[in-house]
This record gives sequence, structure tokens and C-alpha cells, in this order.
Amino acid sequence: MVHLGPKPAQHRKGTFADVPAQLLEAIKPFEQEFTISGAKLQEIVNHFISELDRGLSKAGGNIPMIPGWVMDYPTGKETGNYVAIDLGGTNLRVVLVKLGGNRDFDTTQSKFALPPHLRTGSKDELWEFIAKCLKEVVDDVFPEGVTEPIPLGFTFSYPASQDRINEGILQRWTKGWDVPGIEGNDVVPMLQEAVKKVGVPINVVALINDTVGTLVASGYTDPETKMGVIFGTGVNGAYYDVLGDIPKLEGRCDDDIPATSLMAINCEYGSFDNEHQVLPRTKYDIQIDAESPRPGQQSFEKMNSGYYLGELLRLILLELYEKELIFKGQNVDKLKKPFVMDTSFPSRIELDPFENLSDVADIFQDELKIQTTEPERKIIRRLAELIGERSARLSVCGIAAICKKRKYETAHIAADGSVFNKYPGFRERAAKALRDIYEWPAGKEDPIVIVAAEDGSGVGAAIIAALTEKRLKDGKSVGVKANA
Ligand code: BGC
Repeated sequence: MVHLGPKPAQHRKGTFADVPAQLLEAIKPFEQEFTISGAKLQEIVNHFISELDRGLSKAGGNIPMIPGWVMDYPTGKETGNYVAIDLGGTNLRVVLVKLGGNRDFDTTQSKFALPPHLRTGSKDELWEFIAKCLKEVVDDVFPEGVTEPIPLGFTFSYPASQDRINEGILQRWTKGWDVPGIEGNDVVPMLQEAVKKVGVPINVVALINDTVGTLVASGYTDPETKMGVIFGTGVNGAYYDVLGDIPKLEGRCDDDIPATSLMAINCEYGSFDNEHQVLPRTKYDIQIDAESPRPGQQSFEKMNSGYYLGELLRLILLELYEKELIFKGQNVDKLKKPFVMDTSFPSRIELDPFENLSDVADIFQDELKIQTTEPERKIIRRLAELIGERSARLSVCGIAAICKKRKYETAHIAADGSVFNKYPGFRERAAKALRDIYEWPAGKEDPIVIVAAEDGSGVGAAIIAALTEKRLKDGKSVGVKANA
């Protein structure tokens, strides 16, 4: 299978002739530190597999491996109106989904920009904002009102423990969120109460991680789907495991559920290697972690997800400036602001098609008020390539670990997220990294391919809400057994 995507960024090797020797010398260590060999990737994957197992064990480990309580494959015959909401990093998406009953669906989408202060503001403000957006959409689509509350699937893309599908106890915020009073609590009643307050007829049926939604939505249209993964502001993956292979659920599920049943697992593998055993962290990764709202958490994610790529580049550039190697004598106040460079920076830098990198010149001039020389831009471009390449290579380690663990020899890995969809060359670099891990022979089709996913947080959440309603109607459980 050939997957579509932006063209890979070209390396500009051989064009460094005009770069001063001192500067060339200064970036050499970055080449080394940010380049991850196939052998290192294999070492990371091996450790990853044991960490996935540890996460499923009774004692638990760093990787949460959260059972998502999706225990059925959709039949395609699901029907009805559902609402799905997705609280992402920058937007709240509200999707009305009409499942048609013939593997078909219609969606009506609305997007609301999340005012940035909500990410670290008060919880009441956050829930009120979400409820009001929901009201706006529902009033608009159903002006005459509805006879029964509309079932809602809530895509909540943060590590949330679930003893049942309509529960999500936030373990910890990720991706720079920090709203007090939510960690350690169940977010479902908070949302349900907020919608009640503004008077929208909605019943929160299921809480879904974006990776589980992606897995289910893509499995609905492509039966070869073995994982749902997100390469975006955060990174994570979901897959189906066999109940009998999940020691921590032993004795906790209803007795009539066979050990051969499947269970969707939200891995939350952004927290892989919080113990720092294999990941080749640079001092910049260490600094990002130390200065983050949750030091010590999400070690893997902090090295490769979209939230951090621009910040990595910023820290390196600032250091080169302080060593008087670039931007000499200029005011770099703007560059000193943490997170001023989002992922669109390295992404646009890599996309610049001009030999003299004039787009890069404009970006630095317009957005950071910094003038750049051509040699400086070549160095900036090379650093962006190194960061982008490292991100892609690391991100596939989770995929290889799951596929090896589940012994999948062929698979479609359904992927979504801003980095997968927008970062130039990401898909090709990721495919190459998988090839390096597996050492597949050249010239043949790769047996495991990463493909663009269906809309997990909209359609996936709606299908899961439909599956949940069906299970409840059939008297089947959607969580641990009573008193477990
Ligand atoms: C969250 C996951 C989520 C991933 C991708 C991570 O920061 O912990 O729940 O799936 O980002 O959105």
C-alpha cells in the first residue's frame, strides 16, 4: 500500500560551503545526539514491549495500559443520532453523527477555538464553555427540540482511568493543560452537570480516548486496522488485547465474559520510559521536562510530540545565540519566550522550497523580529530536519512494540493528528524507521503500514456510544463487575 502525504523535505547536504567553520563545528554534536540508529530503535522497542506487559500486570508500571471498555467490533448496522465532542489542544470539536445502518454515516461538524487561558484557568469556566458550545450546536440542528436526550460520546484525550466506559478519572494533565481540581476526579459527571445547567438534552454515554476512537472508526471501514495512533500535540496508541492476557483485569470482569473476548486498550504510552532507561535524552529534552507543569511525566511524548518540537528548536537556537554563533548583536527577546515557536515553525522551515531559504528569512523576520543570514538559515533548516526526523523515528517505536507483542505480521495502523497530517516528510520518515526496526527487505511492500485514519473522535466516538447503548440494552456489562 502506498500512503499519501506531503513530500519529504530534501536534505541540503553539500550546500553548507558558505557556513562558517565555527558554526558547522558547533552543530556537529546535534547531528550525533538527534540521530537515532536502527539498532537503537530496536533496543527501545524491546524495552517498550516489556513496559507494555508491565502496564498490563497487576502491579502496573509506567505505561498505564487503560482498558477502554470497548469490547465489540461494530457490525456496521448501528443506527441513530449521536453527538461527539473532542476536547483537543486548541479546539473543541462538536460533531453530530447520524449512523445510517449500512456502514454509512453523515456528520455535521462545528469547531470552537478554545480561548488559550482555558488551558490553565478554572474548571467551572472550562465546563461552562463546553456546555455552551454544545447548546449552540444542538439548538441549531434541532430547533424544534428532541424527544429524548441525545447520547454523547466524549473524546477526552488525556490519561483517564476507566472502571467503566462512562467514567474517566483524570490521572494527570498532559500537553501543557493544567486546570486545577480535575486531576483525580471523574470528568463525566462534571460534563453531565454542566450540560444540565445550560439545559441541553444530552446523556453522556461513553468516555473515549482519541486513540480508541481512531481504532474503532478505522476498523469500521478497514478490517485490517490493528491500531489507532495519534501523532499530534501528544502521542499515543490503542489496540485490542485479549482479556485473558490482561492480568490486571483477572477476576474483575463479569463471569460470563469469556477470557478470549477482546478489550480495547488505551496504552497512554506517552509515559514510556519515565524511568529514563533507554531513550536518548538530550539536555534540551531534560530542560523541557524540568520546566513543564508535570516534570518526570510523559518522557516519551516530550521527545517527539508536536507540542514540544518547536520548543526544542527554540532552546537550541537560543543556546547558539548565547554562544554568539548566530543572530549576533540582535535583540532576541521574542525568541526568549517559552513555547513561542509552535510546531508550525520547524514544519514551515522544512517546507521552504527556496535554495536561499527566503521563507525561513520571512518567518524569523515577521514573527521573531530576527534577521538571518543564509548560512544561519541553513543551520536552522538542518536543526529542524534533525528534530523532525528524530520525532518520526521515535514515534513508531510504540507501533512496533504493540505489533511485536501481539505478533501481528501484517497490519494497517490508522493514524491521525497534526504532526502526521501536516509535518513535511513525517510519513516517509516513520515508514523508514519501521523498516529499520524490522529490517524488511528492500523493494517489497511493507507488511505493516501507517495509513490515514477515519475521524476517530467524531465517528469513532459515535460508534462507541452506539455499541455501549447496545451492550446496556442486551444486559451486558460495560465495566468491572460490582464489588470488583
Ligand atoms: C494523552 C493521550 C492522547 C494523546 C494524543 C496524550 O498527551 O495523554 O490521552 O491520546 O496525547 O492526543
